[in-house]
Amino acid sequence: MSATQKHTNALQNALFRVITKASENLNLKSYVIGGYVRDYFLERGNAKDIDVVAIGSGIKLATEVSKLLPNKPKVSVFKNYGTAMLKTNGIELEFVGARKESYQKNSRNPIVENGTLEDDQNRRDFTINALALSLNDVTFGELLDPFNGIQDLQNKVIRTPLNPDITYSDDPLRMMRAIRFATQLQFTIEEKSLQAITKNAARINIISKERIVDELHKILSSKKPSIGFALLHKTGLLSYILPELVALQGVEEVEGQRHKDNFWHTLEVVDNIAQTTDNLWLRWAALLHDIGKAPTKRFNKKQGWTFHGHEFVGSKMVYKLFKRLKMPLNDKMKFVQKMVLLSSRPIVIATDVTDSAVRRLVFDAGNTIDELMTLCEADITTKNEKRKKKYKENFKRVRKKIIEVEERDRIRNFQPPVSGEEIMKTFNLKPSREIGIIKETIKEAILDGKIPNEYEAAKKLMLQKGKELGLTPIIK
Ligand code: CTP
Repeated sequence: MSATQKHTNALQNALFRVITKASENLNLKSYVIGGYVRDYFLERGNAKDIDVVAIGSGIKLATEVSKLLPNKPKVSVFKNYGTAMLKTNGIELEFVGARKESYQKNSRNPIVENGTLEDDQNRRDFTINALALSLNDVTFGELLDPFNGIQDLQNKVIRTPLNPDITYSDDPLRMMRAIRFATQLQFTIEEKSLQAITKNAARINIISKERIVDELHKILSSKKPSIGFALLHKTGLLSYILPELVALQGVEEVEGQRHKDNFWHTLEVVDNIAQTTDNLWLRWAALLHDIGKAPTKRFNKKQGWTFHGHEFVGSKMVYKLFKRLKMPLNDKMKFVQKMVLLSSRPIVIATDVTDSAVRRLVFDAGNTIDELMTLCEADITTKNEKRKKKYKENFKRVRKKIIEVEERDRIRNFQPPVSGEEIMKTFNLKPSREIGIIKETIKEAILDGKIPNEYEAAKKLMLQKGKELGLTPIIK
């Protein structure tokens, strides 16, 4: 690519000419930089966020741009960062003044000076994010690529403009960003960078949990999340962020018996589920479905390796993990907990699919039964093709049975066919233990298939159970 080639195709939106005009009015130069330029060359079509760097005040440029736009959008100014933002026609424009930043050893406050474009490019995270396109009239569309970012895009490499030790230690979030970009774009991280990340891994502790989780979400939302988790593990970052996963790594052998490596198994499960669902929380469930296995691992001669109750322990760990990472403790967390808790159930019943086992499963999973089945199917990671086929067929049978049972028994959104109120009226009862006993008896009988999920049958059982409890009906 020649240095003077112009990439005006990237700048077709009329907004860019407005920025040119505004820059001329202020007698300064400006450039589009960062993700917008990178994604243009990658043909990734990310045109919603545009970063503009001004050789001068970014805040003044934003204000001038707003003045020239017909709808005069509001300018949000972040004085501390020297940036300003405005939204127009669904596009977010972020303005920043070029900075020459050096960090003092004894202070965390950066010394900010007015810098040149190259100074600004120097202090960006990666060469592929430092690409800039000129917005200045004569050179409009010209690419400024002092660190061979285009070459790195072609070679699919993540590299820092400066010595990686400086880049990562200046802003440790960049360690996560490097791994996130490597995962999203399926790029490799340059060896020097990997070493610097490994060396600086502990500095991730100064980054807010929200920003870390944001990167984790992006890694999990990628096509092949295992790339990111393997890198987080390799560099040591994972032990600061998700030590529960690191604890799953390794294979122990006692008396010739080995268990599988549950860390690498988990990553396979996550990759599998990434092919069948975009539901981020179901992907989280896949990532965490086995975390209870580390604390519950035991060996005994009779059974070999066991992980008794790991689903229950795992679901409790989900809460603590979400809390620690300041993730929402709402229905999303409860969903992940439920998936972890039920994650072995379909496997247990798959070899002997009885109606009552399926009814109980559907009762417990409720509206999340489909997601649970998706998780269990992703959990099949055996390399033995014959076995894999068998497991898949078993799950197909479970899915079929779920549909059959559901059509007949409507367990999914189970509502007791006889209400507590009716039980009270029938036996002239105040709220009491007996009502719970009768309701439970009816529910159990339906789940066991002893009575159909219907009013008449349930009422008959209610009267029978009431009699057993020594109650006399006042209405028949
Ligand atoms: N940047 C940086 N260091 C960071 C964050 C951002 O140097 N820790 C710079 C990069 O040049 C980046 C630009 O700021 O391209 C914009 O950052 P951001 O909007 O967070 O990311 P994008 O690169 O646009 O990518 P994406 O939208 O995929 O997050």
